[in-house]
Amino acid sequence: MPHARIDLDTRAVVAPVHRRLFGSFVEHLGRCVYDGLYEPGHPTADADGFRRDVVDLVRELGVSTVRYPGGNFVSGFRWEDSVGPRENRPVRRDLAWHSLESNQVGLDEFARWLKLVDAELMLAVNLGTRGIQAALDLLEYANHPSGTALSDQRIANGTLAPHDVRMWCLGNEMDGPWQTGFMTADDYGKLAARTAAAMRMADSRLELVACGSSGSGMPTFGEWERTVLEHTYDQIDYVSCHAYYQERGGDLDSFLASALDMQYFIDTVVAAADHVGSKRHSRKRIKLSFDEWNIWYLDEHRTSGEVNEQWRFAPRQLEDVYSVADAVVLGDLLMTLLRNADRVTAASLAQLVNVIAPIMTEPAGPAWRQTTFYPFAITSRLARGVALRVPVDVPTYPTAVHGEAPLVDAVATHDAEAGCAALFLVNRSRSDAITVTADIRSLGDVAIRETQAIHDSDVYAKNTLDDPERVTPKTNDTVRIDAGELTITLPPVSWTAVSLG
Ligand code: AHR
Repeated sequence: MPHARIDLDTRAVVAPVHRRLFGSFVEHLGRCVYDGLYEPGHPTADADGFRRDVVDLVRELGVSTVRYPGGNFVSGFRWEDSVGPRENRPVRRDLAWHSLESNQVGLDEFARWLKLVDAELMLAVNLGTRGIQAALDLLEYANHPSGTALSDQRIANGTLAPHDVRMWCLGNEMDGPWQTGFMTADDYGKLAARTAAAMRMADSRLELVACGSSGSGMPTFGEWERTVLEHTYDQIDYVSCHAYYQERGGDLDSFLASALDMQYFIDTVVAAADHVGSKRHSRKRIKLSFDEWNIWYLDEHRTSGEVNEQWRFAPRQLEDVYSVADAVVLGDLLMTLLRNADRVTAASLAQLVNVIAPIMTEPAGPAWRQTTFYPFAITSRLARGVALRVPVDVPTYPTAVHGEAPLVDAVATHDAEAGCAALFLVNRSRSDAITVTADIRSLGDVAIRETQAIHDSDVYAKNTLDDPERVTPKTNDTVRIDAGELTITLPPVSWTAVSLG
């Protein structure tokens, strides 16, 4: 049996665990909003039409921030369509997903929903088909207290207090040819800089996110960030990162090491940002907003015909059903975000309900947790205080996509004030259980509070409408602490959290 040694040293601090790392994303896409979080006829629906069973699950998931309303959708969106009396709201075509948008849920309704789930709103403006004026108008409608045309319109629409949105995305994936109104880095950089400057004139406290690359495989990856930041460095706070992973061609070994690509992504964007910063002799450090990340079986969806020539309301699109292996990879991706908490200070799991989501619903039926729900919810609950770098001494295994990959990945968090810590572990081996020995003397006298693990003899086991609890977290009874040394045996293809205190 392979063996891993790790050293959990409370001095190896990366940065505080920002709650915004546990953000998510709601796009007007498929059944994320309609027949997802909003279904007026549903038995659990409240007066606003929001499903309370979904609200309960979102709260359990521990989501801090929600990016809204897109995604590709935002690049053709007219925000004015989605406010005011519902009966006056127009039906529009959404070119991004070839579907119809009823606009029955808009900014004011969504902000009310966010109060139910106790999460922060992160808004995206349309820089695909629109520009500075529409962004300023939305900002006035959303954030100005009262006494102007658009703030008074919001009040007349029933929202007295401003939404006070702090984080704003300057468009979405403007590097992608699939984006309505996509641009070159130079054109986008100029537009984003001017939009950001104008938005700051209206409200200097905004936190602005410029579009980075839509994936590390984009031909412009790295150079896009450099060019955009040359234009926007002084105006923005964050550059966005988007990454989706999937198992391809039965290559589970590579898939299980997807976090290595996420690390490469982060390293490259940090290098590009700091290069621009150093040329300007700037002390400012651009932060990363990893505002789309997940497992997405994109290749299969591309050929499925679900995005087609029919214009339908809320069609079933991107409804991936996740396996145990997917959950293990998702847990590892979240560990990678924690490990980079010094630069990645915001992130959004894409998406939240039905569309590549941890929560699924059936119209007039139940809502349930996908396998991927668990590592996110458990990490959000246990990761407190500061993130700790945890070096792992373990053999590697060969992968076709990422080269040599360590068999075990680890990261920890430590809350000195509360006297607790959490250790997150992944075993990427398909065949072997791996025993981990951790030197935890720096934590002092601690006991094991709980262990939570995702694994199964069938790594492709899934939760479905018919069997919604096929996969749930298990405890790990192998864990021991003896003389400042913690040992635990990790089953093959597993994600594990150990809470100590
Ligand atoms: O999350 C699904 C889509 O992925 C988003 O609309 C887009 O931004 C990305 O390509």
